[in-house]
Amino acid sequence: MPPIILIAALSYDRVIGAGDGMPWRVPDEYRQYLSFIEGQTVIMGRRTFEIFGGDLTSAHTLIVSRTAEKRPGVVVCGSVEGALARARKIGRTIFVAGGGSIYRQTLSLADALYLSYIKGTFSGDTFFPEFDLSAWEEVKREDHPAFEFVAYRRRVGQAVSSRASSARRKVAGSGRTR
Ligand SMILES: NC(=O)c1ccc[n+]([C@@H]2O[C@H](COP(=O)([O-])OP(=O)(O)OC[C@H]3O[C@@H](n4cnc5c(N)ncnc54)[C@H](OP(=O)(O)O)[C@@H]3O)[C@@H](O)[C@H]2O)c1
Repeated sequence: MPPIILIAALSYDRVIGAGDGMPWRVPDEYRQYLSFIEGQTVIMGRRTFEIFGGDLTSAHTLIVSRTAEKRPGVVVCGSVEGALARARKIGRTIFVAGGGSIYRQTLSLADALYLSYIKGTFSGDTFFPEFDLSAWEEVKREDHPAFEFVAYRRRVGQAVSSRASSARRKVAGSGRTR
């Protein structure tokens, strides 16, 4: 089964969005995002597609929506489960690219998290879900001028049922030391 990776840019307080966008502009981070998803499958919610859609480097883009019309170049799926089933059939790495509602519905299924913590203080109205750091192993941390990239892999032995309860437990953040 192809891995499911949640990929997000977030503040250290887990803000991911403000209104119809993100409260920062970090081109280096966006370039990194495009390079990760290149040639892979991306799943995103209808709002995220309307805000950021287009010019993606992914080979397959699946939009989760109950209302969106068919559009050229993307596949509209009526449910998260439907999008995941379709993505699994395609067989490439599955990147879940938001927004908040889609992250919440897929966190318990994710194999890895690719999180770019944007340096600075931001306020917003959409958040990455809280997650229990003890369920995740940090496998990479890279410091960039405007952001810190951290990759987590789900620890072995975290079954789906315990994943759900882990997701409900409070604890999140980057694990940064400063
Ligand atoms: N920082 C980041 O990395 C990042 C990444 C992505 C997005 N964002 C931010 O996140 C915000 C958008 O997030 P959001 O939570 O408001 O919207 P969203 O998750 O992008 O999209 C929500 C829409 O997805 C569809 N949907 C969700 N669950 C569904 C389900 N189970 N079955 C069928 N359709 C479903 C619905 O579309 P219909 O109404 O059409 O049915 C729903 O209105 C924006 O502020 C954006 O800037 C940030």
